Amino acid sequence: MMVVVILSMVIFGGKIEEIQKRGVLLIGQDPAYAPFYGVNTKGERIGYEVELAKMMADVLGVKVKFVITNWDGIIPALLADKFDFILAGMTITPERALKVNFTTSYYETGQIIFYNSDKYPNGLTENDLKKMGNKAKIAVQLGTTGEFAARKFFPEAKILTFETVDAAAYQIITKKADAMVFDELYYGSISKKYPAIKTTENLLNKEKLGIAVKKENIDLLLWLNTFIECVKTDGTLDQLKQKWMIE
Ligand code: ARG
Repeated sequence: MMVVVILSMVIFGGKIEEIQKRGVLLIGQDPAYAPFYGVNTKGERIGYEVELAKMMADVLGVKVKFVITNWDGIIPALLADKFDFILAGMTITPERALKVNFTTSYYETGQIIFYNSDKYPNGLTENDLKKMGNKAKIAVQLGTTGEFAARKFFPEAKILTFETVDAAAYQIITKKADAMVFDELYYGSISKKYPAIKTTENLLNKEKLGIAVKKENIDLLLWLNTFIECVKTDGTLDQLKQKWMIE
C-alpha cells in the first residue's frame, strides 16, 4: 500500500496538496437530492452532505465549491477532473468500483418503493407491483441503483427514467406512475412536502453510501477514510443524521 501511495504521489503529485494550493475543494453533485443537498429559498446550498463537505474544507483550510452535473454523467465528470470527488449519496457497488475508488461508508440505506396513497389508499406492496406485470409504471432516476433494482425486481414493468430524483418523484406525485424506486433516505424530505407519498414497509435491498475518488488519488482516499472514521467516532455523523433525516 505504502509503495502505491508514494509511487502515485511521485507520478501524479499529491491531490491534497493540489487542493490546498488551489484554495478550493471541488465537490461533484447533481442538482438536488434532499436531504443530502439542495438549495434553500435564499439560494444557499444546504443539507447533510453540504455540511459534511464544509467540515472537510475547514480541516483542509480551503473553501468549498459544488460542481453540478447530471447524475448519469457524474463518474465520467470525475474522471475528466471536473471536481475532486463525488459526495452525492452514491451507493458503493462493485461495478462502479472498477472505475473509481470508494471510501468506507458514511451512511447506510437501501432501495424502497415509494407510492402515492391518494392513488393507492389501501397501500401498495412489492407483490402488488409484481402482480401488475407490464401494466406497472415505475419511475426512477437514470443511472441510479434505484433503476437497477426496479429492473431486477420488476422485470416486466415499464421503467420510466428521469434525469433528477425530483423529476422521477413528480411522476408519483401527479399519479402518472404507480411507484418510484429510490434510496429510502429520500422519504423524509418528500413526505414532508407531499404527505400522501408513502413507502412500502420493507427495503428491496440494503446499500452503503461512500465517496467516489479517482483511482490515482490515493492520498485523498486515505485522508477521506480517516475523516469518515473520525466523524463516525466523535458523533458528528449521528448529529447530522438527527438534524437532516426524518425516519
Ligand atoms: N444511491 C443511489 C445510487 O447511488 C442513488 C443516488 C442518487 N444520487 C443523487 N445525487 N441523485 O445510485
